[in-house]
Amino acid sequence: MVFPDELERWIRPVLQGRTAHVMKSPDQIMEELGIAPEQAIKLNRNENPFGCSPKVNQALADYVTYNLYPDDAQTEFRELISQYVGTTPDRVVGAAGGSHVLDIIVRLFVDPGDEVINCVPTFGLYEFISDLYGAKIVEVPRDGNFDIDVNAIKAAITEKTKLIFLCNPNNPTGNITQQEDLLAVAETGVPVVVDEAYYEFSRETVVPFIAQYPNMMVARTLSKWAGMAGIRLGYGIFTTSIANYLMGIKLPFGISTPAVIALRASLQDKDYLMKNVKQLIAEGERLYQELTQIDFLRPYPSRTNFMFCVVLRGNANEIVEELKRRGILITFYDTPRLRNGFRISVGRREQNDKVIDVLRDIGASLSK
Ligand SMILES: Cc1ncc(COP(=O)(O)O)c(C=O)c1O
Repeated sequence: MVFPDELERWIRPVLQGRTAHVMKSPDQIMEELGIAPEQAIKLNRNENPFGCSPKVNQALADYVTYNLYPDDAQTEFRELISQYVGTTPDRVVGAAGGSHVLDIIVRLFVDPGDEVINCVPTFGLYEFISDLYGAKIVEVPRDGNFDIDVNAIKAAITEKTKLIFLCNPNNPTGNITQQEDLLAVAETGVPVVVDEAYYEFSRETVVPFIAQYPNMMVARTLSKWAGMAGIRLGYGIFTTSIANYLMGIKLPFGISTPAVIALRASLQDKDYLMKNVKQLIAEGERLYQELTQIDFLRPYPSRTNFMFCVVLRGNANEIVEELKRRGILITFYDTPRLRNGFRISVGRREQNDKVIDVLRDIGASLSK
């Protein structure tokens, strides 16, 4: 549908011309291909293939007062997360997913025309959110190993710079940024977001340094390690003053009652969830080794539950489409910084085996 011209002029200029995301759901894609949804192997969104803790399902079923609003002060949520992280509740702010944590951070710091530094290639949401607030994105390319370029970041800072995004480990490349580099960026005094969405896989964190670098903020999620992507729960760790600001600008009731119930149950079942994380790390290493044996692929080592793979021979898009026809969803990339590649999430053992078999099969039909 074309938006009527006379109405479009009322839309904020930075948003004019935007269209809805037309992302088909995995189930829709499979239905179109005539594949039963439960047969599909979904390795395109870095979800946890083991699901959430069974205790979450039980606790959600047992709760009855869903008719009441949740606690806007996030009292229990902040308490639970602070114990999990090893900090104090007044430094924690929650939202409906790590994405929404990033959104309120940008909302706090960025005015239209301000600059946001983004170390590409990286998670696309940083640019998306910054755009919504009218920021100018300043891209500072990573090097050939996808490491950030600290000197180039420093050189890119102007008086308009309001925020720097650092994804650690980086999505979609999976690599870690050395702690000294993260701290060197924090040393500039510019507000820095360190996105630790995959912390439970990498075990790398700068949370202990927030006291020393109050401009440093950490964003995390329950989507990956706890298998709660569908429940939507994320949080950030800040200084108490930034946390107070964020609590003041977030929308009311941003964390749902089911999300808090699910968090409580997940933390009671942390050992089970961490066993799954360990298994995914081991499977990821196995998948990496197997992919290195496939001569038309170059996988990159990863500290997450996914890895990036460059297609050395053949067309990555065709390979991704062929996998799709066989019921396997992965994510295709072809950007100036990530040519002819794909990102694949680590699945359960039998899912990874299937992927490897299919990739070998595709390889056999590619001309040498
Ligand atoms: C680097 C990174 N940050 C944040 C998120 C957002 O996660 P969610 O909004 O599901 O908590 C993701 C999800 O894929 C991610 O990869």
